[in-house]
Amino acid sequence: MIRFRVDEERCIQCGECVLDCPAGVIAMDGYPRIENEAGCIQCQHCLAVCPTAAVSILGRDPDMSIALKGNLPDADRLTTLIKGRRAVRRYQDQDLAPALIDELLDIACHAPTGVNARSVLFTVVKERAVLHRLREDIIGRLAKLKEAGRLPEGWSGKYLNWVVSAWQKEGKDILFRGAPHLLITSAPADAPCPVQDNIIALATFQLIAHARGLGTVWDGICMMALAACPEVVAKLGIPADHVLGYAMAFGTPAVEYHRTVQRGPALVNVVGW
Ligand SMILES: Cc1cc2nc3c(=O)[nH]c(=O)nc-3n(C[C@H](O)[C@H](O)[C@H](O)COP(=O)(O)O)c2cc1C
Repeated sequence: MIRFRVDEERCIQCGECVLDCPAGVIAMDGYPRIENEAGCIQCQHCLAVCPTAAVSILGRDPDMSIALKGNLPDADRLTTLIKGRRAVRRYQDQDLAPALIDELLDIACHAPTGVNARSVLFTVVKERAVLHRLREDIIGRLAKLKEAGRLPEGWSGKYLNWVVSAWQKEGKDILFRGAPHLLITSAPADAPCPVQDNIIALATFQLIAHARGLGTVWDGICMMALAACPEVVAKLGIPADHVLGYAMAFGTPAVEYHRTVQRGPALVNVVGW
């Protein structure tokens, strides 16, 4: 049930909802009405595009949405956020408030997904004590693989070897970079675009986390460790039929960056036909 409702007192019959529906399931019959409920992909474009907040779908009250006019971020400041975001590898030894993590995840779940599948699962470590135990567990498994000469070949083996030796010799955490929290995205393998959905969700999380003054780091070394110790994936509660997206460590930074880096120009291939 998609519960498509039109407030006829508010509706000005402009037809914007009909024009914008990507599935083409709304028709104008005096007022808009759904022609093919099964075809709806539940994207809420009808609710978002209505100039008079007359359309409700999925039980959502349009008056509860954030108005866009006057509320969008300034492009220059957003540019500074994008250019000023750094991979953070030094963190304060403190937990973020669980409510803040929930809020960031609820924002990240607004990221686009193929065919609006919205099936990305956010597996999160909310307490640093839990991440400490996970770190000990994973590094213990890696140490055993190392002793048995069974670390993977190539880059992965090199990094995982470093994870073990840095932890054992210096107590230095290369696995999670000393962060208090970890986020891993995954999505059902049979979703239309699970790989892309997973990465876009994490990138969206990263942007809002940095906008809120937090630090994040994409954690490829954690991904290598999970590939070397696949039994840990199930222990994390990630369903067996999910495609793993990526891992991201995050928390309150113990480092401050004072300026953007200077990259570019972008590598561009202009098509002429
Ligand atoms: C896919 C991916 C995997 C990464 N894995 C790690 C990692 O395992 N450990 C780490 O310290 N940094 C990791 N990074 C951070 C990169 O090294 C970093 O983004 C890059 O050096 C550029 O620095 P910046 O993010 O501060 O601009 C990763 C970044 C990406 C995009």
